[in-house]
Amino acid sequence: MSLDRLNPQQREAVLTVDGPLLLFAGAGSGKTRVLVHRIAHLIREKRVSPWNIFAVTFTNKAAGEMKERVAGLLGQRADDTWISTFHSAGVRILRKHATRLDYGESFVIYDDGDQMTLIKECLEELKLNPKIFNPRAVESRIDAAKNELIEPADYPVDDFFNEQVARVYELYAKKLKANNAVDFGDLLLLPVKLFEGHPEVLQ
Ligand SMILES: Nc1ncnc2c1ncn2[C@@H]1O[C@H](COP(=O)(O)OP(=O)(O)OP(=O)(O)O)[C@@H](O)[C@H]1O
Ligand SMILES: [Mg+2]
Repeated sequence: MSLDRLNPQQREAVLTVDGPLLLFAGAGSGKTRVLVHRIAHLIREKRVSPWNIFAVTFTNKAAGEMKERVAGLLGQRADDTWISTFHSAGVRILRKHATRLDYGESFVIYDDGDQMTLIKECLEELKLNPKIFNPRAVESRIDAAKNELIEPADYPVDDFFNEQVARVYELYAKKLKANNAVDFGDLLLLPVKLFEGHPEVLQ
């Protein structure tokens, strides 16, 4: 692998392999080039096993691009690296360890439409008027809570609206569990819970 295809800052980022590293750079400035060269460098020069490489992106498109570019540098050895989106990594981790979190292995994944249906069902059951408690607004509060790793019991009830959101969130979580279902937020939240509550799975 040739390091001369990198500018000095990129080269420094590729060669800094001990400890965490945060890279900040603008669009199209060569971030992905750094990441793929860094992965290749770790495997080729630092003798890291490909299966110890885990690279995550937000979009499917970015994951696909990263995989392709790593394969371009490493060939077949790239097959054993794990490069995926946050959400598909979450699914894979949860499928393996679902039972530790009291889910069945064949849990289903609710998309946005399924989630909305379930939230409306909860509003109705709690006799909350959807004209006042807009299902979209409630959904976005629940999603935001999940992104902050806030569970129903810890949801801040600082005003009347949030008090009701907390009730919906609690019922919604109960129903998801009863349906052996997870939503997109759970795909990120549950792996964190798993790692915190069952650190042995990290071994
Ligand atoms: N040091 C370099 N010398 C020449 N070309 C480079 C260099 N670094 C990056 N490039 C080229 O610039 C383009 C953008 O690089 P890259 O995709 O790595 O950037 P990025 O920061 O990840 O972009 P995005 O923000 O779109 O994700 C690519 O065509 C890449 O090959
Ligand atoms: Mg990129």
